[in-house]
Amino acid sequence: MLVMAVSKRLETAINAVEVRLRVRLWRNKGSVIALVPTMGALHAGHLALIDAARVKADKVVVSIFVNPAQFAPHEDFTRYPRDLTRDTASLEQHGGADLIYAPEVEAVYPAGFATHVSVEGPARGLETDFRPHFFGGVATVLTKLFLQCAPDLVAFGEKDYQQLLVVKRLVQDLDLGITVMGVPTVREPDGLALSSRNAYLSAEQRAVAASLNRVLRATADSAKSGVSIPQAEAEGAAQLINAGFDRVDYVAVRDAETLEQIREIARPARVLAAARIGNVRLIDNMAV
Ligand code: PAJ
Repeated sequence: MLVMAVSKRLETAINAVEVRLRVRLWRNKGSVIALVPTMGALHAGHLALIDAARVKADKVVVSIFVNPAQFAPHEDFTRYPRDLTRDTASLEQHGGADLIYAPEVEAVYPAGFATHVSVEGPARGLETDFRPHFFGGVATVLTKLFLQCAPDLVAFGEKDYQQLLVVKRLVQDLDLGITVMGVPTVREPDGLALSSRNAYLSAEQRAVAASLNRVLRATADSAKSGVSIPQAEAEGAAQLINAGFDRVDYVAVRDAETLEQIREIARPARVLAAARIGNVRLIDNMAV
């Protein structure tokens, strides 16, 4: 087998003018452009989005921006891992990206910024019950990134399934004319979904975290086997506590397209969960 070195040096745009200029040059040559939005601390899950985008696009822009608008004051905005040098090195080694877009907070939210994008529909409930500010912050920053980069397609992870549906709704409702790709979750061998927040877990907590995926599987199986949905959800939550989680925000079996509550599995469904170990909040989901 021939192993090719794909490593390449990457430019970094730091404001809307720079990213627009670069994308316009590519577009004038007929390139299909993809954007992969991230908050950095890149891992194999992010790289899988780049790989998926590359299949459909000639040029892939990866944005790296820890978006203050989607964190509540008590959340981990200040301690969220930031290491642009390391992220650049891993993108250069991976070889799938063509440009990094890493603006400073002041470039995205200059003094006087006063616009907020609010999505309802799939943004109602679940995460919003526990992080009411979250999808407004995500929708606002993504609208800006989409308008600045003007991509033909964007790639998002199924890991954040509600976010994926919110992005699809946003793009459709605002006629942004962008294709939204959903990419399957990349997991550790024991099933734990890769996440930047896994780095906060102690060895003991890490062992507990692996049960999240197993409990989702068990909940999906029992909902499919005819156990009532409220009972399957309650059993799932109890299993997470038994496994060592300190608090369960939700275990919910929902319609896979709308995230509305369902009485039975008559259409594609999704089981979603959020739970905390100490201060670390983990989310995951899977098809039922
Ligand atoms: P972040 O948590 O950095 O995630 C960026 C993208 O990577 C999201 O689409 C997320 O679903 C995807 N991702 C994360 N872990 C994954 C995994 N294990 N497998 C597959 N994909 C995975 O999500 C955000 O940033 C932000 O909310 C953002 C969309 C960038 C807006 O600020």
